[in-house]
Amino acid sequence: MAAKPIPDLMAKLVSLSKRRGFIFQSSEVYGGLNSCYDYGPLGVVLKNTVKNIWLNSMTREHDNIEPLDSSILMHPKIWEASGHVSNFSDPLVDCKTCKARFRADQLKTATCARKPSLKASECGGEFTEPRNFNLMFKTFMGPLEDESAIVYLRPETAQGIYVNFLNVMTSCRHKIPFGIAQIGKAFRNEITPGNFIFRMREFEQMEMQYFVKPGTDMDAFEEWKEKRIQWHLKLGLKKEKLRFHEHGPNELAHYAKAAFDIEYEFPFGWQEIEGVHHRSNFDLSQHEKFSGKRLSVFDQETRETYVPYIIETSVGCDRATLTLLADAYDEETVAAKDGEEAGPRTVLRFARHIAPYKIAIFPLMKKEPLMEKAQKIFADLRKTWAVEFDEVGSIGKRYRRVDEIGTPFALTVDFEDGVTIRDRDTMTQVRIDDSKIRDFFEKEFLRV
Ligand code: GAP
Repeated sequence: MAAKPIPDLMAKLVSLSKRRGFIFQSSEVYGGLNSCYDYGPLGVVLKNTVKNIWLNSMTREHDNIEPLDSSILMHPKIWEASGHVSNFSDPLVDCKTCKARFRADQLKTATCARKPSLKASECGGEFTEPRNFNLMFKTFMGPLEDESAIVYLRPETAQGIYVNFLNVMTSCRHKIPFGIAQIGKAFRNEITPGNFIFRMREFEQMEMQYFVKPGTDMDAFEEWKEKRIQWHLKLGLKKEKLRFHEHGPNELAHYAKAAFDIEYEFPFGWQEIEGVHHRSNFDLSQHEKFSGKRLSVFDQETRETYVPYIIETSVGCDRATLTLLADAYDEETVAAKDGEEAGPRTVLRFARHIAPYKIAIFPLMKKEPLMEKAQKIFADLRKTWAVEFDEVGSIGKRYRRVDEIGTPFALTVDFEDGVTIRDRDTMTQVRIDDSKIRDFFEKEFLRV
């Protein structure tokens, strides 16, 4: 059965993220900086989990994929060669009435600034002709602030991989096919950022570029499409909320020969979370042309020289994090029983390997011998899992707090022998002998 939509889910996610320390508005004390966000303590753990799973899925699970960390500032010619200086722009229009600025291709979905109940296309305002607006942020390198000193904040991490392709291939003694995986910040001066961390001006990408021989490209493209949707499913996302969207000829980026988005059904509709792109030999050929350096390879067996084709997989860390939060969020009404407080509860039903904390330890009261026993269990379990200790407030309130951060188990130490372990999702409790605590969690965390 499909899950019931939750009213105002985005507003609830923003509020929970702030309340529990996942994500804060950047520069909040100064009124905030639009489209920039700061990750709080739990947000850092959640996003790092996503990044670690991604990097492992690339480099540990494939002998021929290597990691890279290239610089954010790169030679400005790179962005001329890549086509970003001339093509990386959105068509922009201004409303002549309220002066708000919109992407010309999003007037049907964007909200009117003057009458928020209407779409921009419905409010009757007149728009200027579309103008192209380049999305790259510029700055100056060195003491001179003139044309010759302009450098760009990278709008994608991919180009840092392309210009290092031969460095990695030779230093790691790879042959085609092989891949390079990189996680890093990217910057885009988006015209219409929004939906919390969905579209930001500063964000992080996890990109993998797979270099293949022409002729094997379509097989590699199909293989990576499948691997990438499986990766999202393994994070625990609901299958019915994921789908592919194939780019039609008008949607293809300037570099792409074919492209599929992996989309997730957010409260604001189906939206891209990852792109799988067939970039042909566009990027390497352009860099050969602009740099004058050879970026082709020689096939010893067939004695052919060729410029490899590239299959790219590109997913935003922030979008992946938002997807996890939106997918995990649930609400229900609880009856008073076994220490549960009657009333509504909010719960993040993260898969166990995603939850920032795996176990919470609660001494029933801040008293001995409960505190000493609880501390001993805490010290032992934290050697293996991310565990938190909370001795403040009623057990019912403590359950609500750990539900909201998605902790799968809460272990309570009371005056009896043994301990009680409560399951986040079912709220059922089991009584476990002290000597069986570690065994219990080892078994539970084997079932991801
Ligand atoms: N190198 C190819 C590339 O950058 P893209 O489709 O423009 O392709 C890839 O971006 C992914 O990066 C997107 O699927 C999304 O997850 C993320 N992304 C792009 N722009 C973003 C933004 N403004 N804020 C947050 N994430 C963004």
